[in-house]
Amino acid sequence: MTEKTFVEEIEKALEKSKGLNLKELLFCYQGTFYPTTVCSAETFQALENFEARKDDLVLVSYPKCGINWLIQIVNDLIVTTLQTKNENAELPFIECGDPEKFQRMKQFPSPRIVATHLNYNHLPKSIIKNKVKMLVLFRNPKDTAASFFHFHNNAPSVPSYNSWEEFFSEFMNGNVAWGSYFDHAVAWNKHIDEENVLLLTYEDLKEDLLAGVKQIAEFFGFAPTAEQSQSIVDRASFQMVRERSKETHGAAGPLLFRKGVVGDWKNLFSETQNQKMDVKFKECLAGTKLEAKLKYDVYCKA
Ligand code: A3P
Repeated sequence: MTEKTFVEEIEKALEKSKGLNLKELLFCYQGTFYPTTVCSAETFQALENFEARKDDLVLVSYPKCGINWLIQIVNDLIVTTLQTKNENAELPFIECGDPEKFQRMKQFPSPRIVATHLNYNHLPKSIIKNKVKMLVLFRNPKDTAASFFHFHNNAPSVPSYNSWEEFFSEFMNGNVAWGSYFDHAVAWNKHIDEENVLLLTYEDLKEDLLAGVKQIAEFFGFAPTAEQSQSIVDRASFQMVRERSKETHGAAGPLLFRKGVVGDWKNLFSETQNQKMDVKFKECLAGTKLEAKLKYDVYCKA
């Protein structure tokens, strides 16, 4: 990835959000909110004709589940095992950027990293039709909400919420960028067993990153040596990615790589909020495979 251009793109987006209030930051497209700073109706329309390649490496996650971490790992796998530098200077999120980006993306060599925060139901049709491999990353909803809130309120140019209570209520109603966490979870749960889908959790990566890197490599058909896998793990530790974050992501770096722990939600959630989320989670996912994968009772109980 050409870091300079990529960083410029992120900084452009942050610059655009200066002076906006929350209402101006979000716009609605086909029933879901997205940030005006990086998304537009024109790009969504152009995305309908996006031509996915069979060997694209599609990375999907709801915001704040750790996709920037995953992008770094997959990029490192490409660089380490194929010994090619990924020269793709686009924002890797397909729904972000100008509508012409898809024309430019046609020139990029395979394998391309195609990242997205879109709900399964809004993915470009060619990804589904071509059965392109999709690596889906989920995180427990309490830490996801906490991380999302901090991102809004720590980034000086991104509009802040008045309070955690206000953000929590918008998060629960799905009135946040990229829509409802729970809608994403319900949609993905239906596709969890498809052969071109691998669903991992942030918590499992935290628990055993080496095992995670091996699973990712096997899924996408990379064959790193044991030594290479270990170096990828070392470079992907929170300390390492945070240290490099100014270089890789510019001013947004330390905001995107904030704390990197499991259970930080305990510093924000009230007892009532805890109960509300427990009820909503059960309503949406009780008895499902995704519920079991997320180990809600381990990570989300006070
Ligand atoms: P926190 O805000 O809880 O620290 P995304 O990339 O989808 O925006 O997700 C951002 C979250 O992933 C942040 O969570 C960030 O710190 C965490 N993250 C990024 N890299 C990480 C790493 N190497 N180890 C652990 N967490 C990481």
